[in-house]
Amino acid sequence: MDLQFYLRDKRKIIKEALDRLLPPSGATAPTVHESMRYSIFAGGKRLRPILCIATLEAMGKDSSPYLPAACALELMHTYSLIHDDLPAMDDDDLRRGKPTNHKVFGEAVAILAGDALLTLSFELIASMDVAPEAVRVELVRLLARAGGTEGLVGGQALDLSSEGKDVIAETLDLIHARKTAALIEASALFGAVLGAASPEEKGSLSRYGHSLGMAFQITDDLLDAVGAQEKTGKRVRHDQAARKATYPGLHGVEESRRIAKEYVETAVAALESFGGAAWVLREIARGLIDRER
Ligand code: IPE
Ligand code: IPE
Ligand code: MG
Ligand code: MG
Ligand code: MG
Repeated sequence: MDLQFYLRDKRKIIKEALDRLLPPSGATAPTVHESMRYSIFAGGKRLRPILCIATLEAMGKDSSPYLPAACALELMHTYSLIHDDLPAMDDDDLRRGKPTNHKVFGEAVAILAGDALLTLSFELIASMDVAPEAVRVELVRLLARAGGTEGLVGGQALDLSSEGKDVIAETLDLIHARKTAALIEASALFGAVLGAASPEEKGSLSRYGHSLGMAFQITDDLLDAVGAQEKTGKRVRHDQAARKATYPGLHGVEESRRIAKEYVETAVAALESFGGAAWVLREIARGLIDRER
């Protein structure tokens, strides 16, 4: 099977699951529900839920009973994007090719929609009756750590406090590891935990996820520096204007590409013991190098 076909198929499955799992637009908090649905269905790539699914498949497991866990990752991710775009953070007007959430619904509703997506992500995991309680607790712990001050929130705080400063390479790596790689690593680990991976397999998938996440944020920085808005669906040349700490800013475009490739190679190497069943995880990693969105 070809990767693009695989991704299209999974995106459709994830979209249908998200539609079932999100509250309907008309229920108790109509504007917040509409706002949550607006960003969730704006056309994201669904990388994180796909990683969870593809990891399960790499271990020869059926992913369909665990779609709520895969969707929880997309909810956490989308909350982070809604808040990332707020005027108090990156102040962006365009996301996933559409006006940002706060541009459509106002800042108060955008903040609440983010909060609601974040909390719903934990509810989905806790309610996933097909998984043993110990597995659900482990997923909650993983997601909380990836989203907390040692993960996404910590990385976002450091990203913002580094604006306009000359950061050293170690600080930049810490920003990228926390704000982006932590949730991507957790996505692969979700598959590992649901698929009852051995400690060795978990170690490999953790290395894969971390390296993939680093390559992903480096290429995100590159897309801002040299990509096209029509492709990315978000404003470009914004990082430099906001004096963000980025890979091209600190290392230059060519060196950033080289380092991204190195991370991709590390990610692919980490999958060795999984053999052919991990082809999707490998192809996703390789595809990062010349992604346009
Ligand atoms: C954007 O993530 C923010 C980063 C962590 C780099 P994605 O590029 O995965 O965004 P969507 O979900 O496809 O819109
Ligand atoms: C965002 O990094 C990472 C998040 C955790 C949301 P960026 O601020 O570079 O993401 P984009 O470019 O706005 O998607
Ligand atoms: Mg940001
Ligand atoms: Mg941003
Ligand atoms: Mg960016």
